[in-house]
Amino acid sequence: MSSVQQKLLTPLAAAGPPEPPRNKVTVVGVGQVGMACAVSILLRNLPDELCLVDAMEDRAKGEAMDLQHAIVFLKTPRIVGGKDYAASAHSRLVIVTAGVRQAEGESRLDLVERNVEVFREIVPQVVRYSPGCTIIVVTNPVDVMTYVAWKLSGLPERRVLGSGTSLDSARFRHLMAERLGVHAAAVDAWVLGEHGDTSVPVWSGASAGGVGLRTLHPEIGTHADEERWAAVHEAVVDGAHQVIRLKGYTSWAVGLSVADLAESVLRNLGRVHPVSTMVKGMYGIEEQVFLSLPCVLSGGGVAAVVNVPLTVEEAARLRKSADTLWNIQRRLKDLVKKE
Ligand SMILES: NC(=O)c1ccc[n+]([C@@H]2O[C@H](COP(=O)([O-])OP(=O)(O)OC[C@H]3O[C@@H](n4cnc5c(N)ncnc54)[C@H](O)[C@@H]3O)[C@@H](O)[C@H]2O)c1
Repeated sequence: MSSVQQKLLTPLAAAGPPEPPRNKVTVVGVGQVGMACAVSILLRNLPDELCLVDAMEDRAKGEAMDLQHAIVFLKTPRIVGGKDYAASAHSRLVIVTAGVRQAEGESRLDLVERNVEVFREIVPQVVRYSPGCTIIVVTNPVDVMTYVAWKLSGLPERRVLGSGTSLDSARFRHLMAERLGVHAAAVDAWVLGEHGDTSVPVWSGASAGGVGLRTLHPEIGTHADEERWAAVHEAVVDGAHQVIRLKGYTSWAVGLSVADLAESVLRNLGRVHPVSTMVKGMYGIEEQVFLSLPCVLSGGGVAAVVNVPLTVEEAARLRKSADTLWNIQRRLKDLVKKE
């Protein structure tokens, strides 16, 4: 007796087993940030399979099932979830958001030891099932955690990056655009360095509508600036704290910014994003630290780093960012050896 499926479909004689996915994305950690990333990526029609992994199995299964119920509205035909990393096999891109987040008043750097323990569980499993993947780290403190993921994974540098200051730069562009009365996309301005308190606003390169703002207002961002543009960067640094105070966590902006990075990788676009990458040897930085510089993102991860002509002061601030991160990382050396 043939089934309804057999009656409906005649398989081609030469059809072999089903094709493995080509653009599979796994999100590890299905909390507020993980789900904002997952939904943003789905709405951009990027993956042909989405896998959600979390230590809380029911949560991962429940989120996957909830999204499966919307597959009819999406272009991702398969969505799976659970705590077993076998389900993540053949991922092209793995986004790690698992871990603890800042409580009110806590700095990102306060989270480091707890999240290193979390990564020691996660990262070896990710590479075991998807040895050719690119990893985007989102868990905070993101720059240090990107270093940790790189060390624990054994993957080449280009394949392990952190979302870094992509969110800070988006906040920066939004706040500058509000002052200028234009759309955020009309402002080209970058925040580099640490995703956190020592981030570096690159006022020397900020422009809007193709016009360098320093040519219009040479004091922009400096102490001598009567318009106090530096307050815009201060608001960027305080941005996460403000949102956390109001709603308890941040999610949408980081989710949408990570989806933008995912698109550059999965579609091999070669667009430039401020992401956390290994910067040893650049701007006089001598240690193996990850921090954000403008990077060309393509199918294989970070293809190149843009050489930004920073002012002496900006380069000094970048090195200070690197020192802050190195002071944390040096204590982790023994914890992040690949087993
Ligand atoms: N880089 C950025 O721009 C940025 C922005 C916002 C938040 N974050 C960071 O993202 C992380 C997640 O934040 P959130 O608000 O989603 O937190 P959350 O508490 O809502 O979710 C964290 C999830 O991680 C899971 N998890 C914990 N340990 C795990 C393990 N060993 N294996 C698998 N899953 C595990 C938890 O079960 C939970 O579902 C935090 O570190 C936060 O600081 C980063």
